[in-house]
Amino acid sequence: MSKLEGKVAVVTGGNSGIGYASAKELKDQGATVIITGRNSEKVQAAAKELGITGIVADVSRLSAIEHLVAQVKEEVASVDILFVNAGIFQPAPVGQITEEMFDHQMGINFKGAVFTTEKFLPLLSDGGSIINLSSVNAYAGMPNTAVYAASKAALNAYTRTAATELAPRKIRINAINPGPISTPIFGKTGMSEEQLTGFATAMQNRVPLKRLGHPEDVAKLVAFLASDDATFITGSEYNIDGGIGINPLLG
Ligand SMILES: NC(=O)c1ccc[n+]([C@@H]2O[C@H](COP(=O)([O-])OP(=O)(O)OC[C@H]3O[C@@H](n4cnc5c(N)ncnc54)[C@H](OP(=O)(O)O)[C@@H]3O)[C@@H](O)[C@H]2O)c1
Repeated sequence: MSKLEGKVAVVTGGNSGIGYASAKELKDQGATVIITGRNSEKVQAAAKELGITGIVADVSRLSAIEHLVAQVKEEVASVDILFVNAGIFQPAPVGQITEEMFDHQMGINFKGAVFTTEKFLPLLSDGGSIINLSSVNAYAGMPNTAVYAASKAALNAYTRTAATELAPRKIRINAINPGPISTPIFGKTGMSEEQLTGFATAMQNRVPLKRLGHPEDVAKLVAFLASDDATFITGSEYNIDGGIGINPLLG
């Protein structure tokens, strides 16, 4: 299938999990894809595996995003698909939230996302598609996720307003709210193997469809929103969560 033939896509945090699967899907559907990430070795390894370009850029630093845009500009004339995916998950209970943790999580998940779009706008083609990777946590009230949830809720609010403002250029901007997806993100929290297994089992039991999502499930939705099949969709949010959002009391 070549629905994205001729389109150029940038995927932030594309060396792992949902970003990696989405980069693969976008490429498989015909797009020219550039991935980014914060770790040089990981970015280069993923780019090599996928046969695409990889560029290192820490989205929590505005100068790094500006440098990224300049590097992308050397490779391509314009960008049609911007998948703002880079993010972290740092759980902490209310009462133990530190300023450092707040700034770090907000700095990547919200500020990093906003300024990725901000800096890429001049390079985005009219009619382009921006996809923000948010989370069902924005609405869930799940313990230990107050700051993470707030970072994603802020991103969703930003998405709606940006959709109105970018509409004159026919640039569409939408948000995806995944439920629990099986990716390396949880292993980066410092949880032990035992805790990770317990967390995954508990999550899976709460999902009506009784499984965790695969990164590839989300990648299909990313490719749809990026494509011309979605040209009348902007300012929207899509839950992709096995139903967890409709029945939080299950399990
Ligand atoms: N997995 C889930 O259940 C789930 C659910 C809802 C929403 N999400 C969201 O989905 C997105 C992707 O997460 P994932 O689950 O695929 O996790 P992942 O496998 O850890 O991927 C996250 C990617 O973002 C990169 N990244 C993190 N901080 C960055 C920074 N400052 N600058 C540039 N890149 C950075 C990571 O780099 P490193 O590999 O170097 O860490 C990695 O490539 C995140 O926004 C996350 O909040 C995930």
